[in-house]
Amino acid sequence: MTVKKPLPGDLEPIETASRDEIAALQLARLKWSLRHTWDNVAPYRRKCAASGVHPDDLKTLADLALFPFMTKADLRDNYPFGLFAVPRQQLRRLHASSGTTGKSIVVGYTQNDLDHWADLMARSIRAAGGRAGDMVHVAYGYGMFTGGLGAHYGVERLGCIAVPMSGGQTEKQVQQIMDFKPEIIMVTPSYSLVIAEEFERLGIKPDEISLRVGLFGAEPWGEGMRGEIEKKLGIDAIDIYGLTEVIGPGVASECIETKDGPVIWEDHFYPEIIDPETGAVLPDGDVGELVFTSLTKEAFPVIRYRTRDLTRLLPPTARAFRRIGKITGRSDDMLIIRGVNVFPTQIEEQILRDQRLSGNYQVVVTRDGHLDNLEVRCEVQRELSGQLRKADIQAIGKELQHRIKTIVGVSTLVAVMEFDTIPRTQVGKARRVIDERAKQN
Ligand code: DLL
Repeated sequence: MTVKKPLPGDLEPIETASRDEIAALQLARLKWSLRHTWDNVAPYRRKCAASGVHPDDLKTLADLALFPFMTKADLRDNYPFGLFAVPRQQLRRLHASSGTTGKSIVVGYTQNDLDHWADLMARSIRAAGGRAGDMVHVAYGYGMFTGGLGAHYGVERLGCIAVPMSGGQTEKQVQQIMDFKPEIIMVTPSYSLVIAEEFERLGIKPDEISLRVGLFGAEPWGEGMRGEIEKKLGIDAIDIYGLTEVIGPGVASECIETKDGPVIWEDHFYPEIIDPETGAVLPDGDVGELVFTSLTKEAFPVIRYRTRDLTRLLPPTARAFRRIGKITGRSDDMLIIRGVNVFPTQIEEQILRDQRLSGNYQVVVTRDGHLDNLEVRCEVQRELSGQLRKADIQAIGKELQHRIKTIVGVSTLVAVMEFDTIPRTQVGKARRVIDERAKQN
């Protein structure tokens, strides 16, 4: 695959600025953002007052640690518009995220917010190797979810052609990719495999597919999954990260020339990593919970928003900004199985080390008396389906069970099934974990 290195004129000056220049910009913007939030968001002002801090206390970037966190609970408590910082007439759009529990959360954007977002999505697509004139097949869901529309406006801003396909209708997705010949696809990693399977079913080889690169995000995925997607679609697979509360997709995105973790667009979002138990700020390189403060957002500013995503901050490489490592899990997704902390991505990694298994899997947790049981359901690749003897399938299961036990540290039941047994998610995020324990109690 030919990797296009950015030409000097391709990048915005801030993408190659010195760390001092970036820090100066961040401090100026941070002072504005704190003041704007204090002046216009009463619930956060009350939180600050209760902790005895005022925006004037921020003299350096490190002083941000003095300020209270915002959490998902704050968003829920102030549903729908209680944390908005501008009057209704200045809003131009709303988005929402349902989450798996409780009420949905709602966020708003002014025209400036939408412009910044489109700029950052354009920057992300360019970092992935996209250039004006490319055609981009957008298979993220359109609607209240930020994926579809967020991608869409970035595609147009870069001067590319948007194909607003949205999720679902897999046969039509494939037909359209063959007919229109887009260079780029934007889709969740799990749904990209469903699309890849449809290509396989039709006997279309990776080199017959026009796609050159894809931007994948909205759910955790590891290096094994990257290899699987790249092989099956014949593309470079790039990691794009974001969350509704902070803006949507395009908070951070990977560069094609390094593929070493999403680069945080630090001129708009200030990152911190904290100890999820104590809230203390951790040094770069340590794993903890990712926290973001928005630096330019008008309608829905966030100050020290706790994402629940676990990862670490990495030094700059292809750009002047820091990167995030792979999201290893969410602190609220972590399963505790007989005392062992387990993340679905760790299981995924072990499944994908076996070339005979596909990337579709599910983890089912049940309770037997006081004991938790973890069952891993996975599938053989299409070309092996129906071809293996029972003994071979049992051997694959045994090997996987052994690897999970030695590397992740938890005993599991492993069910190796025929291809296409596990339900596929066509719209929205893959459902990897089925936790039946609550129902059984
Ligand atoms: O998923 C925004 C998005 C859309 C990102 C399209 C990328 C592409 P939410 O629905 O609010 O927003 O979910 C945000 O999804 O806190 C992470 O837990 C997870 N997530 C998003 N991107 C990644 C990624 C969108 N690249 C939550 N890797 C976040 C791992 C991700 N997890």
